[in-house]
Amino acid sequence: MMYTDKVIDQFQNPRNVGEIADADGVGEVGSPACGDIMKMFLKIENDVIVDVKFKTFGCGAAVATSSVATEMIMGKTLEEAEKLTNSMVVDELGGLPQEKVHCSVLAEQAIKAAIKDYRSKHGQD
Ligand code: FES
Ligand code: FES
Repeated sequence: MMYTDKVIDQFQNPRNVGEIADADGVGEVGSPACGDIMKMFLKIENDVIVDVKFKTFGCGAAVATSSVATEMIMGKTLEEAEKLTNSMVVDELGGLPQEKVHCSVLAEQAIKAAIKDYRSKHGQD
């Protein structure tokens, strides 16, 4: 399977790349399948995600899936963002080659880890 136009666009023009210095929640995860790393930064106000940035040592599929995942959770409540799954991200991109699906798991896990970090700092766990 080839990459869809959406995957190529998200890879070539990734949204929300970078760091948030005063992030309210930070999540860092690694992929057991390839050893790549994903870091997610969240800015949260009243349990709503008002800003999100990511950084990755990962492949093009990791960049594209994280980029679209940040767009999907921007402005959402923590409860909504926690429901985001890697298959929702892959669907949004119009599919990924099977051997690249593990890359999309990084975004989901990093978002969940960042929310967990926020919750543990705010007595919500
Ligand atoms: Fe490292 Fe894919 S294995 S970028
Ligand atoms: Fe490692 Fe894609 S994130 S191969």
